[in-house]
Amino acid sequence: MLKKLAISAVAALTLSVGGAMAAGGAGEIHDVDFSFEGPFGKFDQNQLQRGLKVYTEVCSACHGLRYVPIRTLSDEGGPHFTEEQVRAYAAENFETFDPELDDTRAAKPADFFPGSNMETAPDLSLMAKARAGFSGPQGLGINQMLKGMGGPEYIVAILTGYTGKEMESAGTTFYENTAFPGGWIAMAPPLVGEDVDFDDGHDNSLHHESEDTAAFLMWAAEPKMMARQRAGFIGVLMLSILTILLYLTNKRLWAPIKGKKTKA
Ligand code: HEC
Repeated sequence: MLKKLAISAVAALTLSVGGAMAAGGAGEIHDVDFSFEGPFGKFDQNQLQRGLKVYTEVCSACHGLRYVPIRTLSDEGGPHFTEEQVRAYAAENFETFDPELDDTRAAKPADFFPGSNMETAPDLSLMAKARAGFSGPQGLGINQMLKGMGGPEYIVAILTGYTGKEMESAGTTFYENTAFPGGWIAMAPPLVGEDVDFDDGHDNSLHHESEDTAAFLMWAAEPKMMARQRAGFIGVLMLSILTILLYLTNKRLWAPIKGKKTKA
């Protein structure tokens, strides 16, 4: 029995590490101390608002976010704009095709963000969860346990990992990037620093812009993270209380029998 258990535990571990390795990039990725990491992590509302601004002004030229409903921008635990602000944001920035009108109209909060404008640019809705930044050491995946999967770190590393070298191949320009697997990416450096002016006057150097964008994309990929963690915490707390109660009940139920035994 014990042997069987041990074998399946080893198998499960190998499988999960293998899976994590497959998703892991080969590039150079550094840990970032994001506010949303750890069991009690929280999204930083101002950071999400800044990241949305970078996405809107820069990334959305090519990349879509088609699985994200625009109305969620007013959600608590997210960028938490007022509903009025979200309505204005949708109308100002995006147009949608409305089959009822058979025409395009300004986007409303009930619509989703548009899809990618550029065929080769992947949709970013789930990108922060689709990539792993860490694996090692020795591909054991231990770093993922200690530092998290590293999806947002991977995005920061891509945005800041350009070396400035370019190469042309089959009519496409590739840019050398220390984080991208293979080392050459078909995306021109989208940020150079001071690309957007933040409303809260925050530092808009390349690194800060990249972190804010990565945080926003993490929220987009997992908007209910904070609610999920809270539910998990309450679950663990209730199970702990239940454990104590069951232990005491067990003691009490067996007390007459065990008591006799020790006396005899
Ligand atoms: C001019 C168009 C363009 C802009 C602007 C742009 N990208 Fe890209 N992006 C691309 C293309 C094309 C690819 C696919 C590159 C490839 O596979 O070699 C890509 C790929 C990516 C990837 C995926 C890398 C991977 O692992 O597959 C990420 C992440 C990304 N972009 C993030 C961003 C962010 C964040 C912004 C805004 C700061 C941005 N991009 C702006 C065109 C763009």
